[in-house]
Amino acid sequence: MSSIKENNIAVIISGTGRTLKNLIEKSKKGLLLANIAIVISSKKDVLGIKIAREAGIETVVIDRRNFDDDRSFSEQITKTIDEQSKKLVLSGQGPIRLIVMAGFLHKYLIPKKYRLKVMNIHPALIPSFCGKKFYGERVHQAVWKRGVKVTGCTVHFADNMYDHGPIILQKAVPVFDDDTPESIAQRVFKVECKLYPRAINLFFKGKLSVRNGRVFIKE
Ligand code: GRF
Repeated sequence: MSSIKENNIAVIISGTGRTLKNLIEKSKKGLLLANIAIVISSKKDVLGIKIAREAGIETVVIDRRNFDDDRSFSEQITKTIDEQSKKLVLSGQGPIRLIVMAGFLHKYLIPKKYRLKVMNIHPALIPSFCGKKFYGERVHQAVWKRGVKVTGCTVHFADNMYDHGPIILQKAVPVFDDDTPESIAQRVFKVECKLYPRAINLFFKGKLSVRNGRVFIKE
């Protein structure tokens, strides 16, 4: 297993940064086998940037509104990650080895070199309640309205479709009669806080392999 210093990740965010905050906290407790080497935000002035700065992490804003299409926006993200990666290598640390989407609300068109190196977490059990329309509170509202008895969260490798790539981990939670979308959201997020670091750690322990679109976890 490589050292944490070499397990550099780029975290890409769009908002409140609760997922980022959790990763920072886990990292401080030694529960994340990764070093957050850069945080890229698609929106300026969001709480996530403040959280990153307070933790002493380099931040870059790449405002989606300044780009005409997904391609040019994605290219700028890749360029920024590559530059940071180069700096890290020159300073004796490894490159950025994983890109972690943390409440990232746009499409990032993944270049070939980062295929199966981009992770996302979705607050539902994929393939239910996922895709372009389902983000943030909308997911839990739809879950509540449909009256499903279980929901949960999914960590997966991202591809170029929303919430679509190979599934790494899923965890179900019950939905109770007296739940509200808010109480469901809270229950799911609590589980997310453990599941995402676990998936990232499995990646850096070299335990994940992908065959025919399915992820296998080596014991
Ligand atoms: C979580 O529900 C997560 O599953 C989804 O974004 C939400 C967190 O956003 N990907 P944030 O970290 O609070 O910005």
